[in-house]
Amino acid sequence: MIINGQKIAQNLRKNIGEQVAHLERKPGLAVILVGDDPASAVYVRNKDNACKEVGFYSEKINKSADISQAELLAEVERLNNDDKIDGILVQLPLPRHLDTNQVIEAINPAKDVDGFHSENIGKLMQNKPHLRPCTPKGVMTMLATTGVDLIGKNCVVVGASNIVGRPMAMELLNAHATVTICNSKTTDLSNKIKNADVVVVAVGNPQFIKGSWIKTGAIVIDVGINRLESGQLVGDVDFDSAEKVAGWITPVPGGVGPMTIATLLENTLTAYMARTKK
Ligand code: GUN
Repeated sequence: MIINGQKIAQNLRKNIGEQVAHLERKPGLAVILVGDDPASAVYVRNKDNACKEVGFYSEKINKSADISQAELLAEVERLNNDDKIDGILVQLPLPRHLDTNQVIEAINPAKDVDGFHSENIGKLMQNKPHLRPCTPKGVMTMLATTGVDLIGKNCVVVGASNIVGRPMAMELLNAHATVTICNSKTTDLSNKIKNADVVVVAVGNPQFIKGSWIKTGAIVIDVGINRLESGQLVGDVDFDSAEKVAGWITPVPGGVGPMTIATLLENTLTAYMARTKK
C-alpha cells in the first residue's frame, strides 16, 4: 500500500488551520534564506504558501550570499526579540563562509521550530522532547497512519545526518523500536535491511535501495529527493522493485516532502502555545 504524504499533510494543515481560527494572535514563522540556491528558494516559497493557507503570520527574509556571520547573527537576534515571531527557521545549507552550528545555537530554543538547537536535540535524546526535527517527526506521523505498532519492531535507518538520520533513530527508539543506524561506512547494508520491519532511507543516492533487499511486508520510508538526468524526480529507494515486496511504501514525490512542511507548521503552533502559556 502507498502511504500518501500529500493527503496526510493536507489533513494536518486543515487541522492546524481550524485551531488557528480560534486564536487571539496569529502564530508567526520567520524563514531566512541566504543566497539564491534554486532548490532552497522553492522550499522557502512552499513554506511561505503553507503559512498563508493555515492563517499564520509569515516573514520571508532573503539575504545575499555574501552576508557576514555577524549580520546573520544580528538578524536571528532581532527575530528572537520579535514577539510576533514564534518560529525561526534558517534554510540550510548555508554558504560555506558561514558557521552553521553557531547560527543554529543563536536561535532561541523556544523558537527553534527546526528542532536543531542542541537543547531541543538533547531533549529528544532524553525522551523529553519539545520541538522535534520536522522530517523525522513527519515520518512518525506517517507511520502512525499505517496502524502498525512499532514496539519491538526492527527498524533500520539508512543515513546519519543531523537533520534526518540521527533524530529519526531517536524518534523510533522513543517509540520502543529496536533501531539500527547505518552510514556510508556500513558493511553489508543489504543484510541489515533484510531483517527490517521498517526501513527509513535518507542518503541522497538515487534508487540506491533495491526491492530484493527488503523483507516482504516491510514499511519503506523514502526521504530522498533526487533529480535524474532525464528530469524525473526519484527517491533513494528503487520504487518499482520495492513496491512489489513492501507492505507499505512512500512515493517520491508526494511522500515525505509534503509532511516536512506540514510538520513545520505543527511545530510553529507548538512553539506558539508554549510561548503564550508563559
Ligand atoms: N534543508 C533541508 N532540510 C531542511 C530542514 O528541515 N530545515 C532547514 N532549515 N533546512 C533544510
